[in-house]
Order: sequence, then C-alpha cells, then structure tokens
Amino acid sequence: MLNTAIKAARKAGSIINRASLELEQIRVASKQTNDFVTEVDHAAEQAIIATLREAYPDHAILAEESGAAGESEYVWIIDPLDGTTNFLHGFPQYAVSIGLQHRGQMSQAVVYDVVHNELFTASRGRGAFVNDRRIRVSNRPFLRDALIGTGFPYREFGRIDRYLELFRAFAEGSAGMRRPGAASLDLAYVASGRLDGFFEMGLAPWDMAAGSLLVLEAGGLVGDFKGDETYLESGDIVCGNPKVFAQMIATIAARV
Ligand code: IPD
Ligand code: CA
Ligand code: CA
Repeated sequence: MLNTAIKAARKAGSIINRASLELEQIRVASKQTNDFVTEVDHAAEQAIIATLREAYPDHAILAEESGAAGESEYVWIIDPLDGTTNFLHGFPQYAVSIGLQHRGQMSQAVVYDVVHNELFTASRGRGAFVNDRRIRVSNRPFLRDALIGTGFPYREFGRIDRYLELFRAFAEGSAGMRRPGAASLDLAYVASGRLDGFFEMGLAPWDMAAGSLLVLEAGGLVGDFKGDETYLESGDIVCGNPKVFAQMIATIAARV
C-alpha cells in the first residue's frame, strides 16, 4: 500500500513540477478569500485517485478538491498540493500528501516535497524515512532552545486573538519561530528533527493525516491543544519531540 501511495505521489509530483515552470499560464480560482485552487491541484488529485483506485477499487477516499467517496475501513486522505499559495508565488515549499487510515488509525504516510525531491514515508510500527534514510525527531530537551514551526491564520480570522496569544507565548519561550507554509512538510520537518515542535489551528484532515504518522513513527508526539488525540477532527494540532511537546501543551494550558 505504501508503494502504491509513493507511485501516486510521484505522478502528482511530476504534474506539479512541470506546471511550476510556467506559473503565469496557470488558471487560478478562489474558493474563498485567500484560498486558491488551481488546475494543477485538480490534475494532481485526479492522477493520485486514478492510481489508488486502480490498485484498490474498494477503498474510500477523502480528497481536498473532490471530497469524500466510497465507504470502507480503508480511507485514503489526500492533499494533492499542500502549500498552493507558496506554489503560486514560486516560493519553493509545497508538497503532495497522501495518508491511509485503517479502522480510524493512520497506517501509511507519504509526504513528497517535489521541489527538493525529498520523499518522506512511514508505515505504522515501522519507523519513518526520508528517501529511504531513517529519520527521528530531535532530542533537544527544552522549549527555550527549540525551533518551533507554525501556520498563521490567513483566510479565517475568528480565533486570531487566541492564535496571537499563543504565538506570543512561543515566540517569547522558544529559540525561534518559522512559518514555511505547507503543514504536511512542517510535520515532516518535526519528524526529521529540523523543527523541534509545531502548532497550528484550523487545519483540515488532509493537511495532517500523513504528516502526523511521520511524527509518531519518528518518535514524536502529536495531539490537539490539550494533548488529546482529536486533532484530525478539531483541526488544532501540536506536535514535537516528547519533551518539547509536553512543554508546548503546558504553555497552551497556562493561557486558557
Ligand atoms: C495550507 C497549508 C498551510 C496551512 C493552511 C493549509 P493548502 O494548505 O498547509 O501551511 O497554514 O492552513 O490550508 O490550502 O495550500 O493545501
Ligand atoms: Ca493543505
Ligand atoms: Ca491543497
């Protein structure tokens, strides 16, 4: 199943790479304020779904652009192009994200950074890898020395005050903050120890599904803002190496 996901991600990757050479030609539609979708997102998603369907016609699918289809204990959760705003600006940080959920638990993950040709993969119980090299979360013990990734609100501002409060707490309490712009890769960077922790509000399941398994299989922890397991439903996510994760949850709890 992981190999099928990799095959699908590579097909999407070549569509995205080809399109990145002619950015001015791409047709863009706006789903809502600051929320863009391009013909590239749709073409990449169709290529992924066709590849998965060919191998597993009975599996269900939850994909960002085409929604939910089918019913099965296996559900493929797909973000064909995570970081569309970056992609449209030629800012080289975007990825294809494909995760497989089995009976409600993530079991396979692929996050493919098409610009840097880094293929992050994980299968439940078998560890996490980048281009076949084993990855692990960092072992930096203290939040004050940690590099923390995040995502700023940019299309829905209902909870911006809460976000800014947490942003301030982490900006003051860590070694630095980064906002690369593709949540699936932020999670892959936590899994590979490039970030020590990450938090964001209001994500969709396809932003987090594959990346969360990468973090867990790399020895990290993932939770909602209380540290519980509801992040795929709530959209609020915190993750990090186990020590930094605990300090992030405590930081959030102290600011309720
Ligand atoms: C977005 C990116 C971004 C995050 C947004 C996501 P999209 O995904 O992951 O980093 O801050 O919340 O929606 O729309 O480019 O697939
Ligand atoms: Ca996304
Ligand atoms: Ca997307």
